[in-house]
Amino acid sequence: MMKKLALSLFFLIFSMHLFAQEPDSETKAEKRVFIDNLLSKMTLQEKVGQLRLVSVGGDLTLSKALDQIEAGEIGGIFNTVVEPDLSQMQERALKSPNKIPIYFGFDVIHGHRTVFPINLGIASTWDRSAIAKAAEVSADEATSDGLNITWAPMVDITRDPRWGRVSEGFGEDPYLSSEAGRIFVEKMQKQSLSDKKSLVTTVKHFALYGAVEGGREYNSTDMSERKMFQEYLVPYKAAIDAGSRSVMVSLVSVNGIPATANHWLLTEVLRNQWHFDGVVVSDHGAIRELINHGVASDPKDAVRVAIKAGIDISMNDEYFLQFIPELVKEGAITEEEINRACRHVLELKYDMGLFSDPYRKLDPKLDIETMFADDRLHREEARDVARRSIVLLKNANEILPLSKNKKIAVIGPLSDSKRDILGSWSGAGRANLAVTPLEGIKRAVNNPKSVSYAFGANLSDDANLYRFLNLYEETTKFDHRPADQMIAEAVGIAKKADVVVAFVGEAEGMAHESSSRTDLSLQASQKKLLKALKKTGKPLVIVLMNGRPLTLSEEYTQADAMLETWFLGTEGGNAIADVLFGDYNPSGKLPMSFPDNVGQIPVYYSHLNTGRPRGTENMGKYTTSYFDSPNEPLFPFGFGLSYTNFAMDFSLSSSEMNKNSEIVVNVNVENIGNKEGMQTVQLYLQDVTASVSRPVKELIGFENITLKPHEKGEVKFVIKYDMLKFWNDKMQYVAEPGKFNVFIGSDSTTQDKKTFTLLDK
Ligand code: NOJ
Repeated sequence: MMKKLALSLFFLIFSMHLFAQEPDSETKAEKRVFIDNLLSKMTLQEKVGQLRLVSVGGDLTLSKALDQIEAGEIGGIFNTVVEPDLSQMQERALKSPNKIPIYFGFDVIHGHRTVFPINLGIASTWDRSAIAKAAEVSADEATSDGLNITWAPMVDITRDPRWGRVSEGFGEDPYLSSEAGRIFVEKMQKQSLSDKKSLVTTVKHFALYGAVEGGREYNSTDMSERKMFQEYLVPYKAAIDAGSRSVMVSLVSVNGIPATANHWLLTEVLRNQWHFDGVVVSDHGAIRELINHGVASDPKDAVRVAIKAGIDISMNDEYFLQFIPELVKEGAITEEEINRACRHVLELKYDMGLFSDPYRKLDPKLDIETMFADDRLHREEARDVARRSIVLLKNANEILPLSKNKKIAVIGPLSDSKRDILGSWSGAGRANLAVTPLEGIKRAVNNPKSVSYAFGANLSDDANLYRFLNLYEETTKFDHRPADQMIAEAVGIAKKADVVVAFVGEAEGMAHESSSRTDLSLQASQKKLLKALKKTGKPLVIVLMNGRPLTLSEEYTQADAMLETWFLGTEGGNAIADVLFGDYNPSGKLPMSFPDNVGQIPVYYSHLNTGRPRGTENMGKYTTSYFDSPNEPLFPFGFGLSYTNFAMDFSLSSSEMNKNSEIVVNVNVENIGNKEGMQTVQLYLQDVTASVSRPVKELIGFENITLKPHEKGEVKFVIKYDMLKFWNDKMQYVAEPGKFNVFIGSDSTTQDKKTFTLLDK
């Protein structure tokens, strides 16, 4: 302990003056001198060590890892969140030849100890303050556990719900995803990385992971540069502009070249065009996979290709230490390239304040019991964000909100599942601390005895699905009772109740990494259960728990009311009860279109018009459409109901603007129902004629307004010249004079528009 203190003091005195809030030119110069000096003392071996990020486990036991750390062969550790181990590792790092502290990383994707809704849920809030709360609490909890960096936010644009990782991102839209990503970066990293509560963010997966062909995991992507720069690259850029100091590279190939080997992407775009000066981390196993991709002949070649492309840090490193020194000796890569990558890592450590106090986030008093204690959770914040994430999809005859005096039958395989409600990527959370819907409902009603419960059906009758879900550990339990017996039990309690609330959807493991689907309907076992419940004639509330848009046209018809709740996290059950009983008036809006059927995919609101748009002119059958299916999504982007209704109208401050002026959009909103509620006013733009085809509309703003019954309010947006820019026919980012349509509405189908002209001068 004394030694630890002495060392801390040494580092503190050594560089105390270097940590002002904002680095001015003097501190920048001092940082440079400090790092130059350090680099000049490091062997090539140690420099390579800084580029290695490993996780303890498997062959790499803790004791082996400690020895490697002390030898200066490891720069960072990920996947350990057990404090006594972290302190030990830091202690050994400070015994390494140049006493370079290590950093600790973890996937803090949607919460840490307290689990917040999955990110598709967080995006459904369309509420900047809710997004900020989730990010801020996550960072506070993670840094209290000793972590320095996270592999978040994930801002891949996702328009194909067959891909399981749509659950991790913020949906289909560049603007909404950029806003969420920006807020994550700002709230997690804080003003200065040297803040004790600052968690360095890693924007991922750079790039285009969400555009994998066919929604099949790890598949290839192919896209025009215009679409990339106009839509898919926008959120990564926004996160980088917000200051994200780390970028994770996607596992897939981009226009034929794996991102990990893609010099254009990692160096020309990221470094040279965007001036990114942080660290570039490969994804897990990505360097070895370059051999399978067919761009490297063997592991050594894969290391060469990755370094040449611009990778700094190798996640779960297998080969850097083995091959980089050899490659440098042979001249296949230069020591300058390794110095550059190492400098990025050292600069990050310096800015994190690790050199001044390597123990700044560590707390040796934090034993395992304390770590998981309930009083370390932020339940209130989690409940608030969770209820804002819920989207009301249907409410026939205002069956919701329910009275707390009714007899309620809670039915379905997800009603009482503590594991599923946390969603994927919730490694530091604990299922036993989560509130299930059944628990939440029982707590909320006047008499818990008025709530009856039946499991009703397994999530699926497909044994293969269970094998897939339970491959590594048993996460999804199978009830071995005959299916008909379970349904009969459910029908029995439904008949005795006033209303049936059915919890159906996906197991959390069905919406995760490596969980692509071709069929997005509910599993047959659940469909059978719902049919039987419908037959009872009792009002049916379908509560969905899932990590992606599903195809739900049958259930939409069956349901009297329908709620999309995603996977809501630790406080999910309470949040669902808040909405069911009207203690919170639902305000969520969908961040992704829900297809009517899989054949429509990709279906997204911001498509191009085509030469033969559907339904706008009488062109007989020769229009862009399917003849065997509805042509619209079941639920459009931005859609979500409330227990009240809102009316809106709007005006533009001018019908013309130029480079130096702006247009104010004034929206009058009135609550025309009889409950207080929040409405998200959505602003869309269409550039009517340009040198390239432009989307039918694009979201460029949104604001929330809360109004009491019959109250009126106003929302203002300002359209600025820069918001009219796009990548033109010459791939220049410009605004072109001409006509623009402005749409205001409560979802992306709005046709309520006004027009203005951008003048030439
Ligand atoms: C692989 C995933 O693709 C990535 O998103 C994650 O951050 C890393 N594993 C680390 O867990």
